[in-house]
Amino acid sequence: MKVTVSRRAHFNAAHKLYRKDWSDKKNIEVFGKCSNQNFHGHNYEIIVSLTGKINSETGFVYDLGVLKEIIKEKIEDKLDHKNLNIDIPEFSNLNPTAENIVVFIYNELRKYIEKDLELEVTLFETPRNFVKYSGDNLK
Ligand code: NI
Repeated sequence: MKVTVSRRAHFNAAHKLYRKDWSDKKNIEVFGKCSNQNFHGHNYEIIVSLTGKINSETGFVYDLGVLKEIIKEKIEDKLDHKNLNIDIPEFSNLNPTAENIVVFIYNELRKYIEKDLELEVTLFETPRNFVKYSGDNLK
């Protein structure tokens, strides 16, 4: 029997989407407002879900207080009030799209979550636009 437990968290960050090897015209065609030269911000919401067996001693799948601290330390403290393109080395040559950010968050958290737990990260870039990642074997 497996149960999923989730924690919601939040950070604000700025970004812009563009390719240096494309003209301004092409960047605007592809990325629209998100290629605005002077950056813009989003209120990002994340939901981190862990799926696993209930521990018979504690009744927990995972201690959500511990998950809260991991998310705060490894994600919120790192990304909140940052300019993703400039402040986060992983995005110096990678567009900080919601897709790339969710993979980044997943990879960071995966280091601290025991391997017997499944991890899924959902990232809301706006209240209506969101992406999900739970690892894959595509590489
Ligand atoms: Ni944007």
